[in-house]
Amino acid sequence: MRALFMALTALICSVTVTAQPIEVHVSDRATNQPTIAPEIYGQFAEHLGSCIYGGLWVGEDSEIPNEAGYRTDVLEALKALQVPVLRWPGGCFADEYHWRDGIGPKENRPRMVNSNWGGTVEDNSFGTHEFLNLCEKLGCEPYISGNVGSGSVEELAKWVEYMTAEDGPMAEERKKNGREKPWKVKYLGVGNESWGCGGSMRPEYYSDLYRRYATYCRNFDGNRLYKIASGASDYDFNWTEVLLKQIGHQMHGLSLHYYTVKGWQGSKGSATEFTTDDYYWTLGKALEIEPVIRRHIALMDSVDPEQRIGLLVDEWGTWFDVEPGTNPGHLYQQNTMRDAMVAALTFNVFHRYADRISMANIAQIANVLQSMVLTRGEEMVLTPTYHAFWLYRPHQGATYVPTQCSAPERKVTPTRSVPEVSVTASRDKEGKLHLSLVNPELEKEAKLVLSFDALQPKQVSGTMLQADAIDAYNDFGKNANRVGILPFKGAKITRTGIELTLPAASIVTLEIE
Ligand code: AHR
Repeated sequence: MRALFMALTALICSVTVTAQPIEVHVSDRATNQPTIAPEIYGQFAEHLGSCIYGGLWVGEDSEIPNEAGYRTDVLEALKALQVPVLRWPGGCFADEYHWRDGIGPKENRPRMVNSNWGGTVEDNSFGTHEFLNLCEKLGCEPYISGNVGSGSVEELAKWVEYMTAEDGPMAEERKKNGREKPWKVKYLGVGNESWGCGGSMRPEYYSDLYRRYATYCRNFDGNRLYKIASGASDYDFNWTEVLLKQIGHQMHGLSLHYYTVKGWQGSKGSATEFTTDDYYWTLGKALEIEPVIRRHIALMDSVDPEQRIGLLVDEWGTWFDVEPGTNPGHLYQQNTMRDAMVAALTFNVFHRYADRISMANIAQIANVLQSMVLTRGEEMVLTPTYHAFWLYRPHQGATYVPTQCSAPERKVTPTRSVPEVSVTASRDKEGKLHLSLVNPELEKEAKLVLSFDALQPKQVSGTMLQADAIDAYNDFGKNANRVGILPFKGAKITRTGIELTLPAASIVTLEIE
């Protein structure tokens, strides 16, 4: 009898505990908060698989509908995303790219073997003009990743001159190639992964090289370069430390790469077929970006307390096995609601460090790794990650608003956990507050009670990303729109704030006035 009583009490207690709403407090009175750099929502396009050729670019003579060679469908999709910055031409590819091969009449451009990525032969029909004109069409900043590994200081210096000088021999050549006015190019990456595919260098050696490149890459005619040193991969804190000590005074930004990946040897797991444990493991690994960022930032703080140097997470995202039957060197993977969760949780982390993070570029924009769009011939689908980016657009350039959330954490490995709800907030230039709320729990809806320092909400509306399954994805053919944006009508204004219920495995953005 006593045992039955104890069991009943335990059951009632557990029901009461789970029924308890999660409290979210929004510190809308907090002052001196940083701006969330729009560039945190940046993209990355590498000459890799069908990212450029087939994904962004099909050429003017293609039967696939295009605008001056750029796929019309992809262009329109990307315009809707308000891409703030696009990094190009790599990645590993950048350190073997010779820009002169990609200018001038297309029929004269030499072909090249893309040795990093599957040995594919490319015709260089997408080069400097095609990239910079694409950025103009998208209304985004270009981010040029320069060749340090196999190029020369002169080659990169001349590239900068070609793109940005009003007059002089390089400008003359550009004009002959059809572009009268120079482009504005702000972001210049001095090498990529110089510790690995970008030259297998030691940080001391790279630092010395960086000094030479940074010296001769000049500012022409009002163009102001923002020079980015090739930074560490995830846990390599020594790389960051040495670079900061040696060349901190000469860099504007320092990059960092962090992939959500099981490991570099053997299988990385399927993008679409995974267990519940795999799912939580993936989120835990994605969220480990936070302690990694924190440690790199602590090193930056120690030499640069004024926060002059920006941290650019210029490659991040999920990395799974390639889709069966595709070229292993082309890194083509599908994209499910799990990927969208990774994106949203990662944005929430980036926002927390908005005072230091000046850019982030998901890898990559089309057909490679955690992409925005997938294409097959003339078909295109928007991925769940695309929709997560779309949902978070209001945070671009908005002022960060701190929040506190009482959600418990789910332990997913001995050292990693995933919060049952993750929240971020910002205030845009018109004064509207946006809250993005992630419920990563697969089987639990989350009841939330929102309170504010001062705000008395008068109006609240919402949009949501949720699918019929966590492994749902958009495929070519009749399942092209299986995962998409839905209206969210579950938020209610109360006397003390707002109440809402987040469905299991959902991402919601609220607009509050
Ligand atoms: O994004 C794919 C590759 O990952 C990039 O080329 C390289 O920089 C990184 O290792």
